[in-house]
Amino acid sequence: MSESEIKKGLAGVVVDTTAISKVNPETNSLLYRGYPVQELAATQSFEAVAYLLWNGDLPTEAQLAALRADERKYRGLEPQVKAAIDLLPLEAHPMDEARTAVSVIGASDTSGSGSVLDAAGSPEENLQRSIRLYAALPAIVAYGQRRRRGQELIEPRDDLDYAANFLWMTFGEEAEPVVVDAFNRSMILYAEHSFNASTFTARVITSTLSDLYSAVTGAIGALKGPLHGGANEAVLHIFNEIGGADNVTAWLDQALSEKRKIMGFGHRVYKRGDSRVPTMKVALDTLIEHYERPDVAELYDRLENEFVARKGIYPNLDYPSGPAYDLIGFDTLTFTPLFIAARVTGWTAHIMEQTAANALIRPLSIYDGPAERHIEGYVATAADLEAQGREAEAE
Ligand code: COA
Repeated sequence: MSESEIKKGLAGVVVDTTAISKVNPETNSLLYRGYPVQELAATQSFEAVAYLLWNGDLPTEAQLAALRADERKYRGLEPQVKAAIDLLPLEAHPMDEARTAVSVIGASDTSGSGSVLDAAGSPEENLQRSIRLYAALPAIVAYGQRRRRGQELIEPRDDLDYAANFLWMTFGEEAEPVVVDAFNRSMILYAEHSFNASTFTARVITSTLSDLYSAVTGAIGALKGPLHGGANEAVLHIFNEIGGADNVTAWLDQALSEKRKIMGFGHRVYKRGDSRVPTMKVALDTLIEHYERPDVAELYDRLENEFVARKGIYPNLDYPSGPAYDLIGFDTLTFTPLFIAARVTGWTAHIMEQTAANALIRPLSIYDGPAERHIEGYVATAADLEAQGREAEAE
C-alpha cells in the first residue's frame, strides 16, 4: 500500500452495510429504515422512532404501549447512578457526567452471566439494555442541569410521555404542547445518522465482542468533541459572542481572517446542505414565535446568509438546534447531552446490527517512524531473532 492510498479520516471509505439509515448527499435525504426523517418528525413520537430503529418497522399501537410501559420502568434516576453523579465536581463537563452515569448503569447490570465471553449479550438482552439506557438518559441529563443550578432532583411523571416527561424532569413544570412538539422533533432528527464518528466508535467497540454499555460509553466520548456533537453547544457560544444581527459582518470578517471554523456549518457527507436542517428550522421558528424572540431569527438568518454567500458552506443540524434548546431553557452545557439521549437509539441499533453479523474492525496503517534500531549493548537471544525473523546472527 502506498501513502497515496491512505484515506485520511476514512473519508469516502465504505466499511460495511447497514439497514438502519441511509444518508444520500446527492438528494440531501436521510431515511430511517426507509422512511424520510422529515415524515417521521412530522408524524411520530420519539418512542415510535426508537422502536423503528431497533426493530425495523414502526410499532403497532400495542407494541408502542409496551415500549412506553418499559420506558416508564427505567425512567427514574437509580440511587447508585445519582450517588455517582453527586460524587463528581459541579464543574465536571455534563458529557463526562453522562458518560460516567452510563458506565455505572453498565457496571451495575448483572443480568448477564458475568463472563467476558458472554459480554456481547443475546439480541433480547441487548434490546432490553437499549431500552434501559434510552429510558434512563433523560433523568441523567435533567438532573445534571438541575444539580449545576443548585436545584433538587425531580421525580418522573407516569402520566407524561417521553418528551413531555423529559422537560418536566428538567424544569419542574409542564411544558406547553408547542415546546414538547419542537423538542420531540429535535430528538427524532438527532436519533440516527449512519456511520458517523460516535456510531462508528460504538461499532468498533462492539466488534471486539465487548458489551453494549461499553460501546455506548465510548460513543459518548466520541460525541463530546466539537467537530461532532459538541458543535450545537459551540453555536450558542458564537451567538453570544456576536451579540446581535448588526454585528455579524464585522464578526465574520474577523473570524474568517483568523481562519476560525464556524461551528454549526459544514458536514463530512452533505456538501450541499444537511437534510435535517429545514425540519429543525421550522421547529426553531415555532419556538421563536412562542417565546417572542425575533432577535434570534435575525441573528440566525444573517449569519447563515453571510456565511453561505462567502464560503458556500451550509448549516448542519446543530445550527438550528442550538438556539432551539437555548429558547426552551436548557443550559448551553446541556445541549450535547441532549444529543446523547437522542442518539443512544441509533447507537444501540447499530450495536445490535454489528453483533448480528460481526467482524472485528481493525484497519491498517503505514509506519513512518524511525527505521529499525537496537538497544546499545543488548545481545539478541535466539528467541528474539526467531521472533524478528532474522538469521541466526546471535553468535
Ligand atoms: N467554518 C469554516 N470553514 C469550514 C467549515 C466551517 N464550519 N467547515 C469546513 N470548512 C472549510 C475548511 O476550513 C476547509 O477549508 P480549506 O480547504 O481551505 O482548508 C474546507 O472547508 C473543508 O473542510 P474540512 O474540515 O476538511 O472538511 P471535513 O469534511 O473534514 O469537515 C466538519 C466536516 C464537520 C468537520 C467541518 O465542516 C467542521 O469542522 N464544521 C464545524 C463543526 C461542526 O459544525 N460540526 C458538526 C457536524 S454535524
